[in-house]
Amino acid sequence: MTTQISDPREELKRQAAIEAASMVQDGMVVGLGSGTTSAYMIDELGRRWAEGLRFSAIPTSEHSAEQARSHGIKLVTFAAHPRIDLDIDGADEVEMGTLNLIKGRGGALFREKIVAAASHRFVVVVDESKLVKRLGHHMPVPVEVTTFGWEMTAARLEALGARAILRMTPQGKPFITDGGNLILDCNFGEIADSVALARRIRSIVGVIESGLFIGRTSEVIVAGGDGLKHLTAG
Ligand code: A5P
Repeated sequence: MTTQISDPREELKRQAAIEAASMVQDGMVVGLGSGTTSAYMIDELGRRWAEGLRFSAIPTSEHSAEQARSHGIKLVTFAAHPRIDLDIDGADEVEMGTLNLIKGRGGALFREKIVAAASHRFVVVVDESKLVKRLGHHMPVPVEVTTFGWEMTAARLEALGARAILRMTPQGKPFITDGGNLILDCNFGEIADSVALARRIRSIVGVIESGLFIGRTSEVIVAGGDGLKHLTAG
């Protein structure tokens, strides 16, 4: 039985996530994204697992690992499976012309990028509100940085033209990633050249990764008022 969700945006996210989950086949190694849209995808894979689908999964966060475990989904590591067949993940913004992304509002961007980089296909699931003409339209670029010297790293990021804000928890403490690092949310406004910006950010000492995902997307599944659309790179 399928239950409809009363919040229309949540329902769109769920539809995109279920469509992507239908791409998972027996025997695959699957990357499990993080965030609320990915959570619908993991629940759908849990439902299919209960029906007998069998695959191996590499999660992109402790949270997604926990959710997958609760469904009994088999989790594996890169030691046994260095190559992933299909990675499914959400995004905060998708640039329509390039399918480049901003990710990391949930703070899992570093593991998400490692998993995407190891994947044969990287499928992104969003509702239509995430589509933008240029990255940076609504969202800052999250940058994961080391705790040591983060103030210096923030100053270098600001020299690139951003306002860099240390991400905090609702309890008022610095947000700590699964890797034990900090996140600086860097507001550059609309980004004219995201390829060059990603490169400049990476060159700063103290930066671990940025939430700019450049040239990694194979396909975006967008759910909107007109139904589901599949956007492909190139
Ligand atoms: C997690 O770190 C993020 O990259 C998420 O994939 C992204 O923020 C999308 O999240 P939602 O699906 O919750 O909007």
